Amino acid sequence: MTGKHNRIRVEADAEHLAQAAADLVVETAQAAIAHSGRFTLALAGGSTPRRLYERLAAEPYVSKIIWPHVHLFWGDERCVPPDHPDSNYRMARESLLEHILIPGENIHRIQGELAPPEAAALYEQHLRTFFGNEPRFDLILLGMGADGHTASLFPHTPALQERERWVVPNYALSQQSWRITLTIPVINAAAHIIFLVAGAKKAETLHRVLTGPYLPDELPAQQVQPAQGDVLWLIDKAAARRLNRP
Ligand code: 6PG
Repeated sequence: MTGKHNRIRVEADAEHLAQAAADLVVETAQAAIAHSGRFTLALAGGSTPRRLYERLAAEPYVSKIIWPHVHLFWGDERCVPPDHPDSNYRMARESLLEHILIPGENIHRIQGELAPPEAAALYEQHLRTFFGNEPRFDLILLGMGADGHTASLFPHTPALQERERWVVPNYALSQQSWRITLTIPVINAAAHIIFLVAGAKKAETLHRVLTGPYLPDELPAQQVQPAQGDVLWLIDKAAARRLNRP
């Protein structure tokens, strides 16, 4: 089921995957800043991206990005305060934000501490003020859960059907928690998308997502098919082991 713009790149392990991702983020950032004077990046949550953020926060990567020209957003957030252990913002703050010289106004946090409908509405308003009519992120980083979710677009949830709103609250039954997430239209408007998928636990689902039938409600990650942009699946060998690649 690989989409017309899906590319797959297999790295030896999670460390090599983080390094390859850091190289790509730097390359995309430099091109975006050279072209438009800014780089809009939506960060992924979960655990996989931490290694990437730690690399970007240190040499040789940290000095290759002009951080005052970077605007950091989140693809999704847990409905918890920003200092909660589950907060995607907190993970990024610890691994990246505290180590780079980026203006506070360039950090566009989802206010997970608010009631979910309010948090979603405020974030959508903020995005509409920032982007205007078209929310075209230069780069969106995404993870994929073993159930095929991405961002907080979980299988068989209402958020998967949303085609008008840019940000919605979504209840994750498997996580027993409310989330705030970008919707499919916003993700698919991005110029570049990189999935970061590591570990043997993801192998079966990755095989279904990339080579199986199109099941958009069961495998939400399959809905990531940007209209103009491109998708790179950056995966490690363990996650790739079910893919019979030539
Ligand atoms: C989140 C993420 C979520 C994550 C996947 C993979 O808030 O948890 O946005 O979509 O990317 O669940 O998570 P891991 O990287 O921890 O496997």
